[in-house]
Formats: sequence, C-alpha cells, structure tokens
Amino acid sequence: MKRTTLATLRGYKNQQKFTCVTAYDATFAHWASDSSVEVILVGDSLGMVIQGNDSTVSVSNEAMCYHTRAVAAGNKNCLIMSDVPFMQAATVERALASAQALMQAGAEIVKIEGDERLAPIVQALNSAGVPVCVHLGLTPQFVHRFGGYKVQGRDQDSREATLKAARSAIDAGCDLLLLECVPADLARQVSELSDVPVIGIGAGPDTDGQVLVMHDMLGLNPHRLARFVKVFAEPGDTPADSFNRFDQAVKAGQFPAPEHGWDA
Ligand code: KIV
Repeated sequence: MKRTTLATLRGYKNQQKFTCVTAYDATFAHWASDSSVEVILVGDSLGMVIQGNDSTVSVSNEAMCYHTRAVAAGNKNCLIMSDVPFMQAATVERALASAQALMQAGAEIVKIEGDERLAPIVQALNSAGVPVCVHLGLTPQFVHRFGGYKVQGRDQDSREATLKAARSAIDAGCDLLLLECVPADLARQVSELSDVPVIGIGAGPDTDGQVLVMHDMLGLNPHRLARFVKVFAEPGDTPADSFNRFDQAVKAGQFPAPEHGWDA
C-alpha cells in the first residue's frame, strides 16, 4: 500500500472518493493504516470520546500533540491530519506555535475551525510551509456561539457566509476544506468551487471525501448517534474490516444516503 499524501488526494478530485476516520492512539492508527482509508484525523473530538467531556472546548494543544505522537507511531500509510484546538487559531502567533508543535509531533496537515476570518491564519501557515485544512459549517469549537450542535448554511445569510468563507480559504491557499452539517446542495457547490479536495460529514454525498468519528462508526459510542452517522461494524470484524466497509460504501456512492444529511 502506498502512503497517502496531499498530492494523492488532489489527484482523486473528480476521479474517485476518499475516506478519513478519526484515531487517537497507535493501535487504532495501525488498523486504519491497514485498511483502504486514506486519511487519519487526530480530531479534538478526543475531548468527547476519550476525555468524556460534552464539547471539544477543553482540549489543550498538549493533549493534541500527545495523541498525534501516538497515532504517528502506529501509522504507516495514511495522511495524518491533526486539529488545532480551541482558541489556538485566534491569532496568527498562536496558530503558528500550535501548528509547529503538531507538525513536530507527526501531523502532516493541521485543521482549523472558523469562518472567513481565518484567511490571514491560512496565509501565515501557508507561508510557513504548514499544509492546512479549513473546517466550516458546524464547527464544534463554536458550539456555545451556535447555542448547540445545529445544522449550518440553511438560511440565505448562513449559506452565503459559508460560500464566502470557502472562497476566502481557497484564495488564502488552503489545501483541504472540511464541511460539517450543511445542506447537501451547498456542499456540492463548495466542492465545485476549485480543485481543493473537500471532506464532508453530514454534508451529503457530493464532497470529494467523507469522514466519521471512529467510535461512532465502530458502534462504540454509548450515546445517541447523530443523524449523519452509520455504524459499519459487523460481528467478527477487525477494526480494519469495518473501516474497509465504510471506505467501499463511500467509493461506491452508497454512503452517505439522503437520510444521513439535510436539504436546504
Ligand atoms: O474532531 C473531529 O473529530 C472532527 C470531525 C468531526 C470532523 O473535527
């Protein structure tokens, strides 16, 4: 198996879909790396599924580096993306320091959450040689501003804001976009804006890639699952079998189905 790079994902644009799962330790990074999934996200969702909190707000840069190091130790084939946690992308200086620590821990691209105000941060990371993914739509770090985990981009203002943010991230030189919980037609429009690969979660079937939180798709999350989740684990599976089932469903255009997403 060849190691996935950003060039691999760019080459897939309009040719084939790709998949991403979260992982937070060496064992699950090994299983993901042994499957056909292309990208591992060391997500700050670890604040919820590992640390047991009800949001990602309390996750520190130290925790992100600790888990990134563990994932890098177990990974062979996947591209590793790590989250810049809450408030660390609030200024250029903080974002550069956070990205430096994450890249030195083993990340190959960092992900930042926000809106069109991220453009100067994307430019600064870009100039410093740090690949960057911009996460738009429902950005969980902003849960308290949104007043809950709510679908974004449904009314005209929110839709235009998402499009504007995507255009400004692309113009600033982002390498990937990630759209969470937005209507499927808006995600399609963003995916058609440029050659930048777009990853979706709860964003319909037309993005270039799909991501799921590992605990959700393996059926390990004891809490209520979001509508966009499908459990891919079957009895007797290794984690790699379940990751492969997810990857095959995405590549065959079978996941996500309409019931996993939202209309405008
Ligand atoms: O932290 C995370 O796992 C994420 C995904 C939900 C995309 O950002």
